[in-house]
Amino acid sequence: MDNCLIFSGNSNIVLAEKIANYLNKKLGSIKIYRFKDGEICVKIEENIRGKDVFIIQSNCPPVNENLMELLITLDALRRASPRRITAVIPYYGYARQDRKDQPRVPITAKLVANLLVTAGANRILTMALHAPQIQGFFDIPVDHLFAAPIIINYLREKKFKRPVIVAPDVGSVKMARAFAKRLPGGLAIVDKRRDLPDEVEIMHVIGDVKGCEAIIVDDLISTGNTMIEAADALLKNGAIEVYGACTHPVLAGDAIEKIKNSSIKELIITDTIPHQNLPSVFTVLSVAELLGEAIKSIHLETTVSKLFI
Ligand code: R5P
Repeated sequence: MDNCLIFSGNSNIVLAEKIANYLNKKLGSIKIYRFKDGEICVKIEENIRGKDVFIIQSNCPPVNENLMELLITLDALRRASPRRITAVIPYYGYARQDRKDQPRVPITAKLVANLLVTAGANRILTMALHAPQIQGFFDIPVDHLFAAPIIINYLREKKFKRPVIVAPDVGSVKMARAFAKRLPGGLAIVDKRRDLPDEVEIMHVIGDVKGCEAIIVDDLISTGNTMIEAADALLKNGAIEVYGACTHPVLAGDAIEKIKNSSIKELIITDTIPHQNLPSVFTVLSVAELLGEAIKSIHLETTVSKLFI
């Protein structure tokens, strides 16, 4: 792995350090600073000529700062003549606007893909994209991992008697089915409506949840409204307790407080987005080894498919 160099932006240094430790490497030397007017300046402080370079950065809040930092770092890297640059993006932000479902709206997931490639990424390694089709927004290779194996191993240890996996909206059904098959458990779907961004109304619960331990699975939690409303609806429909599991804990605004005071018994998240001092309702599982293995496979040109579910 001598020719492999790993750098990190500022968005999730804890995860980047864990990944580097797993690979027995030190993070590459890089300085990222702000001019007084807020402009970002990056200096790569070691020779990367001919190297296989990985830059780790989540597009988590503050989203625009972190995205811009990644773009400018990619530009600095590509101008220093590495052999290849892989942008490792544990959380790919701006992914929810992935189609033109109303007139005169942007497709930000595609815009971000264009920006990353223009800035210098030759390859992308990411996790739990809001829609797997976003891979097709890139004309460079994308390795798309899932945190499901890590979350399922944790859930299995709970030895549930009658678990049912719940998709909190139709978009999550495929993921929920994969969880239900592997745990194993039943499958239910919550019929969610969203008339305004960030506001949620639960219409129906489809499937039998009576007497079951319900586990809601989602790719991300932002305001927490989807998870909280779904948990209440499941309890009303007879579930005995409700767990939540998601890959990306965006946890915007007062989401942490709302989840702490909600009917969710435990919320299992990963460290694609960093948080400190979370209340005990949250359980954080690390994706560092999974990403570390993927980086190793990409660098050594071995198959990464063993890491996919
Ligand atoms: C929606 O399609 C996503 O998968 C999540 O369910 C949603 O983004 C969660 O948002 P919030 O926590 O704000 O309800």
